[in-house]
Amino acid sequence: ERDILSKLPLKGKKFLVTAGPTYESIDPVRFIGNHSSGKMGFAIAEAAANLGASVYLIAGPTHLNTTHNFVTTIRVTSAEEMFAEVTKHYDTCDVVIAAAAVADYKPAAVANQKIKKKDSALVINLEPTQDILAYMGSEKKQQFLVGFALETENELENAKGKLKRKNLDLIVLNSLNDTGAGFRTETNKVTFITADNQILPQELKPKNEVAEDLLDIIQKGIHV
Ligand code: CTP
Ligand code: CA
Repeated sequence: ERDILSKLPLKGKKFLVTAGPTYESIDPVRFIGNHSSGKMGFAIAEAAANLGASVYLIAGPTHLNTTHNFVTTIRVTSAEEMFAEVTKHYDTCDVVIAAAAVADYKPAAVANQKIKKKDSALVINLEPTQDILAYMGSEKKQQFLVGFALETENELENAKGKLKRKNLDLIVLNSLNDTGAGFRTETNKVTFITADNQILPQELKPKNEVAEDLLDIIQKGIHV
């Protein structure tokens, strides 16, 4: 028993991980999306499962797959669908890691038919999507809440602002200025920032190692 617990320190813990992009429909054949691959989120889900956690992975459109026994993958397309799945699981979660690159805007109306081209400019009105992580922060009880911040300027300041605004316990700053970091790469260079203002810059490493580092910090935070 003690042996199993030491190998699987997160046994009995429920994790919720969001991953990948979201696609927001314009018409039946087009959408607004982004370059997120989902790799970071899938790596985190597997790292948590490797430590014994039961993981609900809510993934936007991605070709990635995981066959890990402790990971339940739920596929969604839009921010609205991701929000709906997140809220189904949030109340009973111990740890949430929001690694998804959720679209900030969606078309205000989705055309029923394919939009035909004209000679004039096309204007699509966009309205904000719901901020899924900010919602979780506002409803936070026992959950240890981890967010990501993708920044290209004023990185530390912006990431700290998000940590505070969204009521997070930890934020992972992802700077697109670092080569080898970010979208579509196998590696990532991140800085962890805790709610008590510890700033922990990390080396450039494979995303699965970044995931393991993140799980180490989370385990300290939840006192496992
Ligand atoms: N996030 C979310 N729902 C959204 C937008 C973002 O849950 N509608 C989450 C992301 O998964 C990430 C965090 O919020 O964990 C920060 O996302 P990011 O895009 O860096 O920041 P935003 O708050 O959207 O602000 P901006 O894009 O203007 O920098
Ligand atoms: Ca955003």
